[in-house]
Amino acid sequence: MARSQLSLPVPGFEEVDRASLIGIALSALSKAYAPYSHFSVAAAALFSSGTLYTGVNVENASYPAGICAERNAIFHAVAEGEKRLRAIAIVAGKNGIPGEHCTPCGICRQVMREFGKPNEILVILAQSPTQYTELTLEDLLPRSFGPEDLLAEE
Ligand code: THU
Repeated sequence: MARSQLSLPVPGFEEVDRASLIGIALSALSKAYAPYSHFSVAAAALFSSGTLYTGVNVENASYPAGICAERNAIFHAVAEGEKRLRAIAIVAGKNGIPGEHCTPCGICRQVMREFGKPNEILVILAQSPTQYTELTLEDLLPRSFGPEDLLAEE
């Protein structure tokens, strides 16, 4: 049988339904607003309550005012009271056609870091519900700086 998944499942995330997460991200992809780069991105983020939140990239005529899909999904969740990110699926492609895996930018990695321990966040880079690579945020952002680093030592 052909293996369509591109990486081994990361242990500890057995309960995460990868195919649904990817399916929801794929269905949001047509909503991306990317008239300048023509590179559409969508993310579906699963938080500890079990709720999924979507986000797409939203560009702007004043280029730096645009925002990535991952941050939009996470900020959407936080606005609903969520604090702990469990998993995030990301899909992307030129002109909205899902293509090669899109790896999150550095700013989005740092925003993910705010809402969980790096080895407790699953990141799924997907093309289709059966074609994806998965890894942890620890793989993408090793030796990170996070909220714990600001806690005063007594
Ligand atoms: N983009 C994302 O939405 N997420 C990423 O992880 C990488 C880049 C968006 C930003 C911009 O709208 C377009 O892709 C091209 O950089």
